[in-house]
Amino acid sequence: MKQILLADNIYYVGVNDRKTDLFENHLSLPDGVTYNSYLIVDEKVTLIDPVEAEFMSEYLYKIKSILGTRKVDYLVVNHDEPDHSGSVYAIIKEYPEIQVVGNAKTFGPLEAFYGSIENKKIVADGESLSIGKHALHFYTMPMVHWPESMATYDETTGIVFSNDAFGGFGTLNGSVFDDEADMTGYEDEMLRYYANIVGKVSAPTMRALQKVATLKINMIAPSHGIIWRKNIKYVVDKYLQWAQHQGQKGLVIAYGTMYGNTARMADIIAKGAADAGVKEIKIYDVSKTNMSYIMRDVWKYTGVCLGVCAHYNSMFPPMSLLTYELTDSKPQNKFYGIFGGMSFSGGGVKTLNAIAESAAWNVVSEPVEVKGAPIREEDVEKLYNLGMSLGQKL
Ligand code: FEO
Repeated sequence: MKQILLADNIYYVGVNDRKTDLFENHLSLPDGVTYNSYLIVDEKVTLIDPVEAEFMSEYLYKIKSILGTRKVDYLVVNHDEPDHSGSVYAIIKEYPEIQVVGNAKTFGPLEAFYGSIENKKIVADGESLSIGKHALHFYTMPMVHWPESMATYDETTGIVFSNDAFGGFGTLNGSVFDDEADMTGYEDEMLRYYANIVGKVSAPTMRALQKVATLKINMIAPSHGIIWRKNIKYVVDKYLQWAQHQGQKGLVIAYGTMYGNTARMADIIAKGAADAGVKEIKIYDVSKTNMSYIMRDVWKYTGVCLGVCAHYNSMFPPMSLLTYELTDSKPQNKFYGIFGGMSFSGGGVKTLNAIAESAAWNVVSEPVEVKGAPIREEDVEKLYNLGMSLGQKL
């Protein structure tokens, strides 16, 4: 088969997943995802990060097409989540003498998932391992994305194998490198990955970025998506921007509606924001759009306006997932607006407002609650003014 080389004797052996509909069974994958893995053929043969279990036969074919009958000596597990570690057991079965390399926090979860591992090598933060011409250094990155997460840095080539950090959704179609692939829309898919996988651990991400800042990095090879070898500064700057909660001018309006009245309110608010000079306005129905896209745009923009109809004295249930994500991820530096419909009892706006108070959101003006449809001039004016107020703040 045609091999993909990152550098002399460093091979890409990852796989494309175009079958899975939902990443972690909740994040939409219209363009698939990759599980990147790397093989370093040196005096000791080293695999870095295996792949999801279902792809084992394709993965093994790729490894063997490079190695033939030669054995793999080390398997570096940068992260225990099964999208990567799912094939650990099968790799150990194939290469029984392999040493599994992880840090002090790696083997608890790994053995809980797959059973006991006899041949393990526990490395400390900053420890190095010579495999011949290449010297690998291991840097722990707690909570990016799990407690045991780490990055592996090859001092010889300046490649950092960053695991989830710098990952993005979408398969790799032809080339794996940023300077060769069609990058149209990739920033959005990388941000969607960041917002939904890494966003809530932005503080540890900043610490991890600071930790590797002193390294001479020639290439960033994550475990999902594009490998960065040309636009390294661009991608590091993006990560710094996202980890520091720096949004851009724009407004996300997300609503939950049963009969369309709250959707009509969203359009009036959008008109107010547009008249205040906001160009980038995204409107989403929480019953229809996968939450990962809404959270991506929450991370991207500085304005968030939530609207919901009442449902038995509370709020329409599909909005709960979004408010959960917002209160859990805690995106910062946002301006919020709240609106909704009363139905027969009210309660939607009241519930949203209570969540906003409890989370100390920066709500820019009084919530707007409309009885029935937004057809009375007074209600239209309040909704328009809410959009205008938000627009002026952004
Ligand atoms: Fe790609 Fe957190 O695993």
